[in-house]
Amino acid sequence: MTDLKGVLSEAVGAAFAGLGLPTDLGRVTASNRPDLADFQSNGALAAAKRVGRNPRELAAEVAERLAADPRLASVEIAGPGFINLKLTDGALAARAQAIADDPRSGAATVSQPRRVLVDYGGPNVAKPMHVGHLRASIIGESIKRLYRFRGDEVLGDAHFGDWGYQMGLLIGAVTDENPKIAEIVEALNAGGSADTAPFEAVTLADLDRLYPEAAAKGKADTAYRDRARKITAGLQDRQPGYFQLWQRFRDVTQVALERDFHALGVDFDLWKGESDVEDLIDPMVDELAAKGLLEDDQGARIVRVARDGDKRELPPLLVVSSEGSAMYGTTDLATILDRKNSFDPQLVIYCVDQRQADHFEVVFRAAVLAGYAAEGQLNHVGFGTMNGTDGKPFKTREGGVLKLADMIEMTREKARERLHEAGLGEDLPADEFEEIAGKVAVAALKFADLQNFRGTSYVFDLDRFTSFEGKTGPYLLYQAVRVKSLLRRAETEGVKPGPIAIAEPAERELALTLDAFETALSEAYDRYAPNAVAEHAYRLSQAFSKFYAACPILQAEPAVRASRLALAGATLAQLQTALDLLGIATPDRM
Ligand code: ARG
Repeated sequence: MTDLKGVLSEAVGAAFAGLGLPTDLGRVTASNRPDLADFQSNGALAAAKRVGRNPRELAAEVAERLAADPRLASVEIAGPGFINLKLTDGALAARAQAIADDPRSGAATVSQPRRVLVDYGGPNVAKPMHVGHLRASIIGESIKRLYRFRGDEVLGDAHFGDWGYQMGLLIGAVTDENPKIAEIVEALNAGGSADTAPFEAVTLADLDRLYPEAAAKGKADTAYRDRARKITAGLQDRQPGYFQLWQRFRDVTQVALERDFHALGVDFDLWKGESDVEDLIDPMVDELAAKGLLEDDQGARIVRVARDGDKRELPPLLVVSSEGSAMYGTTDLATILDRKNSFDPQLVIYCVDQRQADHFEVVFRAAVLAGYAAEGQLNHVGFGTMNGTDGKPFKTREGGVLKLADMIEMTREKARERLHEAGLGEDLPADEFEEIAGKVAVAALKFADLQNFRGTSYVFDLDRFTSFEGKTGPYLLYQAVRVKSLLRRAETEGVKPGPIAIAEPAERELALTLDAFETALSEAYDRYAPNAVAEHAYRLSQAFSKFYAACPILQAEPAVRASRLALAGATLAQLQTALDLLGIATPDRM
C-alpha cells in the first residue's frame, strides 16, 4: 500500500519525465505551509540548476501537466519555484478509507525481508542493572518490534553477561561466607561427588548483597583480585564445583530478570549468555592464529584492528588475557560466529550504551578480518544516558545504581497517585486499577525515553513522565482510551461505521496525519530511530483531539456519523499499533 507522498511523487515524477527530466525530481514532501498546501515538490529548483533554466517557468510547465490529475484540488507555484499540491477531499477520503480497511493501518512492508538479530538489554548476573541497561531494553525492544513489523525475520537476544571476572568474584564471596558450600565446591572440583542441594539456598538477595562488597575488595586488594581471576579461569575451564555453583547464580538471576523485564513489556526471544559460546573460543583462537591475525603482546594475545586514516586511535582486540582468560570482546567475537552458524543474520543491531562505541568498533573490525561478518553487517546503535537532575547518569537517592524492579515500582506508585489525582479508574475493580497503573507506568517510562532521538541524553523526571498532560505516555494512553470508550458507546447505541467522507478542516488534518504513519515508520526503520514513531503517535493524538472537538460524532446525521466513526476507528487502530511498536500496551478503560 502506497502513501499519498508516494502516489504524488510518482505523479510529479511523471510530469518531470514528460519534460525529458529525471523522474526522481518528483519526490514530494509534506508541505511546510499546511495552511496553503498538503504536499510540496522542490524538484523544479534542482532541475532548473541542472538544465540552466528559470525554476518558476519550469515549475509552471510541471504544474500544467499535473492540472488534469483528478486527485489534485490545486497545483500552485510559490516562491522561487516550489510546487504546492493540495488534494481533493475525495482523494483524501479514499486514502483514509484504505487505511481504515487495512489491518496494518496503512504501513508498508519491506520488499526484501532480512534476517535481523537485535542484541539488547545486556543484563549481567549479579551486577545490578544501570540506566544503560534500562535504555538498551526500552530502545532495543522498540527496534525489534519495528523491524518485525516491517516484515523482517527478527530475533531479540538478551546477551546475558554471565561469564566474566564478576563470576569469579562472586564464587569467591559466596564460598567465603558459606563454608558448607565451599566444601562442596572443593569436593566437586577435585573430581569427587557431593550433594549440591545447599546451592539452592543461594538467593538473588545474597548475590546483590555480596557483589558490591566483592567488587570493591577486588579493586583494593590484589591478592583478592588474583584469586577471583583464578576462579574465573577455573570456571572457564569448567571445573565442576565452580561450574555448578555458577549455574545456580545464573538461574536465580535470570528468573528475576525475566520477571522484571516482562513487567516492563520487554521480552527476549533468546536468552543467550556470554557463556554459551565458551566451546567456540578455543577453536576460534586457533583459527585466528592460523589466519595470522593473532599477535603476542606481553603474554596476552591480541588482534590489531587499527587502520590507516583512523580519526581516533583504536586499541587492539584483547582475545586472551595474560592469565589465559577470555575477555568481553572475545565472547562478543565468538557470539558473532555462533550467530552466523545458527540464525545467520544479515543484519545485527547492537543496542548498547554509546560509551561502548569503541568496544564494538574493535570487535566488528576483528570479525570482518576473521571473515565472520561482512563490512556494514554489524551495527552498533548507541544511545545517550538517562541523567539525574545533577546532569550525571541517574542514581538512586542513596547514590546506588537502579534496580529495575524498584524503578518500576516507584513509577507505578506515581502512576497510582496520578490516576487518583485525575479521578481515573477509581470506580474499577482493584485488580484492574493495578493493571492500569502498571500500563501507565510503562508508558511513562518508555515514552519519556523514546520521544528523544536515542543519542540525546535526558533527565529522569518522574513527575513529568507520569503527567496526563503534555507530551507523555500517560497522555497518549488517555487519548487512546477516550477513543475506545467513544467506540464502545457507539456500539451500545447500535451505530456502525460507514464510508469515509472528508469535508471539515479537522477531518482533512486527521486524514493527512493517518497517511503520514508510513513516512514516520520508514524513518524510524532506516535510522534506528523509534522517536519518529513516538512523534507520530503524539501528532496523531493531537489531530484526533482537534477533530473530536470540532466535529461532533454521535450527534451528527447518519452518513456523517458513520464516516466520523470510521475515522475514529482508524485512528485508534493506528495509535495502538504505533504505541505497540514503542512497546507500550493500552488499557481498555481508565
Ligand atoms: N553486559 C554488557 C554490559 O553490561 C552489555 C552487553 C551488550 N551486548 C554485547 N553483545 N556486548 O555492559
